[in-house]
Amino acid sequence: MNKIVYDSYEQMSRAAAEIIIEQQTQKPDSVLGLATGSTPMGMYRALVDAHHAGRVDFFRAVTFNLDEYYRIPKNNTHSYHYYMEHNLFRHVNIRRKNTHIPDGDTDDVDAECARYDGLIQVHGGIDLQVLGIGANGHIGFNEPGQQLFTKTHLVKLTDKTIQDNAKFFDRIEDVPRYAITMGMGTIMQVKKIILLISGRNKAAIFKKIMRDEITTDIPASLLQIHGDVTVLLDKEAA
Ligand code: F6R
Repeated sequence: MNKIVYDSYEQMSRAAAEIIIEQQTQKPDSVLGLATGSTPMGMYRALVDAHHAGRVDFFRAVTFNLDEYYRIPKNNTHSYHYYMEHNLFRHVNIRRKNTHIPDGDTDDVDAECARYDGLIQVHGGIDLQVLGIGANGHIGFNEPGQQLFTKTHLVKLTDKTIQDNAKFFDRIEDVPRYAITMGMGTIMQVKKIILLISGRNKAAIFKKIMRDEITTDIPASLLQIHGDVTVLLDKEAA
């Protein structure tokens, strides 16, 4: 895995945005894999600025988000549908029909997961995937454990993830206990990955994923066997 350390979160975010801008310039109909959470917010701000400056066009882009809480309606302010709408989609010229996020309010989880994987396949897989990382090493919501799953699936969030994500909610009791996430197989099949890591609380996990060993206890460690991963991180995480 290549790594690039930036002096600040802002610089890291702008560099990540530039990679997406370059991808869109080279291939205007790129299939982009997107992440939510606090880490990519600066990247989305930089992309919106670049779009307003006429530097990037999303009209032909197709997007697939990594995950969505379950069970949560799309219009709930904590949903990742809401996050994407407010942090990116409404500020750029992407067509809503080209944006995809798992339906976190479905009655039929298995059918929804199969539909999501099928759609990714129909679009020929993901060209560029943006990832954040949980302090426990999760990517998407593929949580540490004895086994990892290849396809999109329902996952029970770990206590650590619930605690970490409580920052977005009024009370920890309000954090959903489940999520639908893209599986490790889908992530490992994307053509190119950028992994963003920011802040002192991610320094320990960054060190672990750079060690010469892979384990299901640290899902992000599997990225070591993907051929095209660039880790962008700020000084605090490094
Ligand atoms: C979000 C996602 C998660 C986050 C991770 C880090 O779509 O898939 O893996 O990237 O939980 O979250 P933050 O950036 O809030 O620390």
